[in-house]
Amino acid sequence: MTVAAAAAAALLALATFEIAACSTESPQVPCFFIFGDSLVDNGNNNGILTLARANYLPYGVDFPDGATGRFTNGRTTVDILAELLGFQGFIRPYEGTRGAAILRGLNYASGASGIREESGSNLGAHIPMGEQVQRFRGTVRQIGRLLRGNQTAVNELLGRCIFYAAMGSNDYLNNYFMPDSYSTSADYDPKTYAALLIQDYTRQLTALYDIGARKVAVGAVGQIGCIPYQLARYDGAAANGSRCNERINRAVAIYNAGLQVMVDRFNNELPNAKFTFINNYGSFKDILSNAASYGFDVIDKGCCGVGRNNGQITCLPLQQPCDDRSKYLFWDAFHPTDAANVVLAGKAFNSTARSDAYPRNIQQLAAA
Ligand SMILES: *[C@@H]1O[C@H](CO)[C@@H](O)[C@H](O)[C@H]1NC(C)=O
Ligand SMILES: *[C@@H]1O[C@H](CO)[C@@H](O)[C@H](O)[C@H]1NC(C)=O
Ligand SMILES: *[C@@H]1O[C@H](CO)[C@@H](O)[C@H](O)[C@H]1NC(C)=O
Repeated sequence: MTVAAAAAAALLALATFEIAACSTESPQVPCFFIFGDSLVDNGNNNGILTLARANYLPYGVDFPDGATGRFTNGRTTVDILAELLGFQGFIRPYEGTRGAAILRGLNYASGASGIREESGSNLGAHIPMGEQVQRFRGTVRQIGRLLRGNQTAVNELLGRCIFYAAMGSNDYLNNYFMPDSYSTSADYDPKTYAALLIQDYTRQLTALYDIGARKVAVGAVGQIGCIPYQLARYDGAAANGSRCNERINRAVAIYNAGLQVMVDRFNNELPNAKFTFINNYGSFKDILSNAASYGFDVIDKGCCGVGRNNGQITCLPLQQPCDDRSKYLFWDAFHPTDAANVVLAGKAFNSTARSDAYPRNIQQLAAA
């Protein structure tokens, strides 16, 4: 590209940016960046060789654009958070998004991914957390070019954005609790494994901070011992009185406790860091134990799936899902419905209960 062409391209990008800025959109923060797994993936796995893909109906059956690659019938929690933050239109996937659109944030999440590189490999390729952070690093270089190399402006922008990172489910589901494919449960007890995850995650999130992130929401792992996939495999209900596989929930609870300590440490040690712990585990537990009051009739069975609890095989292409999707907590063997995500995102956004968000909710994070 010639210098003139480069200058013209930069001007064009800037003009597009200004048009975007002049539109009716006036969110509470200028941008929203998302890191995670299938719970928040919005299409990054569509072109990847993996079983962890959802760009086919009935996934997206209740989403305006249909099957986009979201692992639910409608919106994910971050879609709903984007709405609550005042964004017009959802945050776009990293894959396939170019130009000035990146200035309002990107979603790097990839189904089956985890903190550890190998997690989820049993399902195929995926973008682990370390690589998602590398992709963000590339995005920030592009933002630098859009802002004419003004690093002060880049840092100011990033400092006002919200970052959401929710990782760990696959480090348990598609690693630690899959002993036929992974040796981690033989190598480490749950406490040591959680400590190793936190150590890696701390490094990854510190990199995010070093690149410019300041307002960071860190999502806990939910009660994955209670998802239809586990209920289909586990016969504990009769023996233990709990419907759920508490061995899995206990291991995850150790990790979540470590996340909370990590968040406190970041806030104490990194200048201007505003990290917060979004307690999806606590929120999920509350929904499970008060399902009826949230409007859920079915909490132990996916709306779409095959076999016991609709949890033995996940929702297949063109399979007929349940009709009353707003009454189901789970869409498939692993993932909540749009209706459940509305409750989870609502709690993350403005609950004042410490058991939902600590030390601040997302609304407070936006204003901080
Ligand atoms: C860089 O951006 C900052 C903050 O937006 C602004 O105050 C400053 O004037 C800019 N510098 C240049 C050289 O444009
Ligand atoms: C079921 O209960 C037994 C006895 O209390 C306990 O040892 C076991 O870990 C429980 N199983 C699960 C999966 O929670
Ligand atoms: C939280 O936000 C929801 C949705 O905007 C609203 O209906 C609710 O009143 C808010 N609650 C609090 C405590 O602010």
